[in-house]
Amino acid sequence: MGEGPEVVARAAPGSFLQVVPGPHQLRSLTAGWRCQGHTVGLVPTMGALHAGHLSLVRAARRDCSRVLVSVFVNPLQFGSSEDFERYPRQLDADLARLREIAVDACYCPTAELLYPPEFASQVTVEAAGDLWEVRARPGHFAGVATLVTKLFAATGPCRAYFGEKDAQQVAVVSRLALDLDLGVEVVVCPIVRDPDGLALSSRNTLLSEQGRRAALCLSRGISLARRRFAEGEDSGPELARLVAEVVGAEPYARLDYAGVVDPGDFSPVMRAQAESRVLVAAAVEGVRLIDTGVLAPGGGSGG
Ligand code: PAJ
Repeated sequence: MGEGPEVVARAAPGSFLQVVPGPHQLRSLTAGWRCQGHTVGLVPTMGALHAGHLSLVRAARRDCSRVLVSVFVNPLQFGSSEDFERYPRQLDADLARLREIAVDACYCPTAELLYPPEFASQVTVEAAGDLWEVRARPGHFAGVATLVTKLFAATGPCRAYFGEKDAQQVAVVSRLALDLDLGVEVVVCPIVRDPDGLALSSRNTLLSEQGRRAALCLSRGISLARRRFAEGEDSGPELARLVAEVVGAEPYARLDYAGVVDPGDFSPVMRAQAESRVLVAAAVEGVRLIDTGVLAPGGGSGG
């Protein structure tokens, strides 16, 4: 018997994905895993899974003996004028992809289960400064932090996997794991891009062909900033202006912000350094997109 079940699960994808509908089932499933001595990896998502999400899953499978992916479009992190209703939802396709890559369980609760009418708690984490996404999306990170705390509490993972694309989210989640003594190691994974440079995002599915081409201005802006930095331009405001100019020149994009920031506290830097981070956000066809990267990949955390 020996290594039987694990090998069978890997050899026959499709057979073993457990679909977990609510927090109580989640708690007992993962408690059972821990009792059996498994290391549990958690990959929180909002679904409409793409290769970026799957790269997090792969990292989790590399590190952990059990992998749980959550698929939940979290209403708490959307502002009233944002795209909660329009956000892509495709649970059946997501479950099929998770089966293919031999994930052990998928947690896909309803909003009613996670947030009953009497729900009255909120987790706020002040770790991402007060600019960029924090300013553009009031309440967003409290919504993220509240959900992620619930996921961590019910799952008790050893590690949880997040993408560098949401750099301020990473700061919030890393801080909360430490501050609340949750014992979770937050693992940050690099941004997965299409060959033309577009950062993968579930929201890309909402773009037309033309919108998708226009969306390339975000990664083009970051590439230009990197190039100019490599050529010797080290003024943070000037590099940010160049990014804004690239996005501003794209008729189908509306710039939200462009910044060159300190990677620790997200404050704008006057003198850019290799590890300084470019942050850019824009709306294309009404779809809000973000992208990021350090000025000198290899000089910072990549991306
Ligand atoms: P979602 O946008 O679905 O992203 C889930 C995870 O995938 C996040 O950690 C995100 O940074 C990562 N990700 C997205 N695009 C990526 C890409 N192109 N390359 C690598 N990783 C990528 O982020 C959320 O959901 C939510 O806020 C969540 C954390 C699940 C809380 O609701």
